[in-house]
Amino acid sequence: MARRKIIAGNWKMNMTPSQAVALCNTLKDLVATDEADVVYCVPAIDIVPVVEAVRGTNVEVGAENLYFEDKGAYTGEISAEMLVDAGVKYVIIGHSERRDYFKECDCLLNKKVKQAFKAGLTPILCCGESLEQRETGVTMDWIRLQIKSDLVGVSADQVKGMVIAYEPIWAIGTGKTATTEQAQEVCKGIRDCIAEIYDTDTAQAVRIQYGGSVNAGNAAELFAQPDIDGGLVGGASLKADFGKIVNYK
Ligand code: 13P
Repeated sequence: MARRKIIAGNWKMNMTPSQAVALCNTLKDLVATDEADVVYCVPAIDIVPVVEAVRGTNVEVGAENLYFEDKGAYTGEISAEMLVDAGVKYVIIGHSERRDYFKECDCLLNKKVKQAFKAGLTPILCCGESLEQRETGVTMDWIRLQIKSDLVGVSADQVKGMVIAYEPIWAIGTGKTATTEQAQEVCKGIRDCIAEIYDTDTAQAVRIQYGGSVNAGNAAELFAQPDIDGGLVGGASLKADFGKIVNYK
């Protein structure tokens, strides 16, 4: 069965609440489609107004992070239950910016993935190699390690419903998109890894996105690859161009 495409914007630390609502209104008609799932992953403070602004449209809302404990004395953190109660459906986990700037390790990310599932959120689990790793030839070893570590204790049924985003770090925010062949090769490698850990059915069901300088000009070719089921889009998700990416065909 064909996998449904999923195209998500990662707003990162952009858009005040009022700017967020204005962007939702600008994009509303542009991102309308029956053919793909469309998600805006937004800063925590924008979640409530964005959920309201996209109500009745085809857009679902995602968070950019969560904490793995249920509740308690964790100043500044946000729980899965809070996200669900606010209307969030997806959560990005393990973005390279969080791995790098906030030193989030695979052991922590594994707890976050499990906590997301426990609350009924769909994780968008990110993985990806640095330029140095690519040049040294260890890309797939590194990504397999990330995937295997982040999914410890996660069931096949859970994996079938989740999203994995392959984002080469050197392609993020640089304008240097991976070639279609590079992106397809790693996304296939991730699917093969899932087949090894779980089974073929699980590997065929999990949706794998490419992220890293996706734009209106390269989306169609990337998303046409057999193992690329959509994109996780940074900079271009903050502009009207996101409509062209969503309606890439
Ligand atoms: P850019 O699309 O700005 O390169 O960002 C990609 C990204 O990090 C999405 O999570």
